[in-house]
Amino acid sequence: MRDSFLPFARPDVDEASIEDVCDSIRSGWLTTGPKTVEFEREFAEKVEATHAMAVSSATSGLHLAFLALGIGPGDEVITTPMTFVATVNAAIWTGAKPVLADIDSKTLNVRPELMEKLVNERTKALIPVHFAGRPCDMDPIEDLASRHGLAVVEDAAHGLGAFYRGRPIGSDRGSRRCSVFSFHPTKNITTGEGGMVCTSDEDLAERISVLRQHGMSKGAWNRYAAKGTPHYDVLFPGYKANMMDIQAAIGRGQLRRLDQFNRRRREIVAKYMIELSDQPGLILPQPQSDDTLHSWHIFTPFVDVDVLDIDRDGFMAAMRELNIGTALHYQALHLFSHYRDNYGWERGDFPEAEYVSDRIVSLPLFPAMSNSDVDDVIKGVRFVLRSHLR
Ligand SMILES: Cc1ncc(COP(=O)(O)O)c(C=O)c1O
Repeated sequence: MRDSFLPFARPDVDEASIEDVCDSIRSGWLTTGPKTVEFEREFAEKVEATHAMAVSSATSGLHLAFLALGIGPGDEVITTPMTFVATVNAAIWTGAKPVLADIDSKTLNVRPELMEKLVNERTKALIPVHFAGRPCDMDPIEDLASRHGLAVVEDAAHGLGAFYRGRPIGSDRGSRRCSVFSFHPTKNITTGEGGMVCTSDEDLAERISVLRQHGMSKGAWNRYAAKGTPHYDVLFPGYKANMMDIQAAIGRGQLRRLDQFNRRRREIVAKYMIELSDQPGLILPQPQSDDTLHSWHIFTPFVDVDVLDIDRDGFMAAMRELNIGTALHYQALHLFSHYRDNYGWERGDFPEAEYVSDRIVSLPLFPAMSNSDVDDVIKGVRFVLRSHLR
């Protein structure tokens, strides 16, 4: 057993970023301002997007994207049951109805051919989620969207640094398309809380940018700056979902280290894949296809409950006894009581998502993990599984 607890994720914010946050605080300019604008510019360049708009979270980014696309009461959006609840909550807030298509339990991503079966005259958008950082197969999704005139909002909360067919997730995909990233502390980069919406659609960019700040025609930071003008118009009753410069200061430092972070994530995953490959009781993630690059936000094998005398939760508790944290991403959406009760979903509706939901576990994965932390996890997993093989 380890002396100290190893969490499943831990952010790595360096001294330069801490100093940059202090600089914002000392400067007197704490909220949205020049650092946010710079962060947006650098982020857009990194993911090859025309526009990147910093927001207070991916959840609000998704919400604003749906609103900007005109999604509302009576509309349907199609997504996956294997995601965080924010994906559907943000759609529900607009008055739209979420519709689920089952996943492929090998990739953990939504199956485009099942999405297609659900399209009808009420369908307005497809919301693929790049689960764990493995890109969805976007070509058939794009094809489906184009044939039916649907918008595509990529939930890219896990996908920063991932590539699909040679292009970064977040890169320009055309009109009525956008991608939303999360900077929650467990993500590939963090700003504490925060998110980014990327698009090449000018109209969408304008609407999101206005929606995130009260519906005002220009950002507040411009009003109070030395050369700003005091006047603005209100175009519609917007929201309050801007990012602060304090957050952007962290984000800029993190973004500069993204490639290094993701390299380390890949190294750790490679070690897990080799060292745990022959371990009965664990089903490792399937190899990714050659035309994608995984961003490995989380490492999510399955606990093979059919050969063990414990279930997944029992495995997590046993790891906790060894002082090793794990996490559950995620219980399938349709098994939560609110959605079950309001959308008529029940166990049996999405069998592949349920198979995954009952077995999936996130092992520790973060760039600051030392090699000996990784060895502890491997030894811990082996010990727990060996002790519980039937
Ligand atoms: C798939 C997915 N979508 C959306 C979100 C929401 O992100 P945020 O916490 O930045 O609102 C998360 C966060 O975990 C997520 O995993």
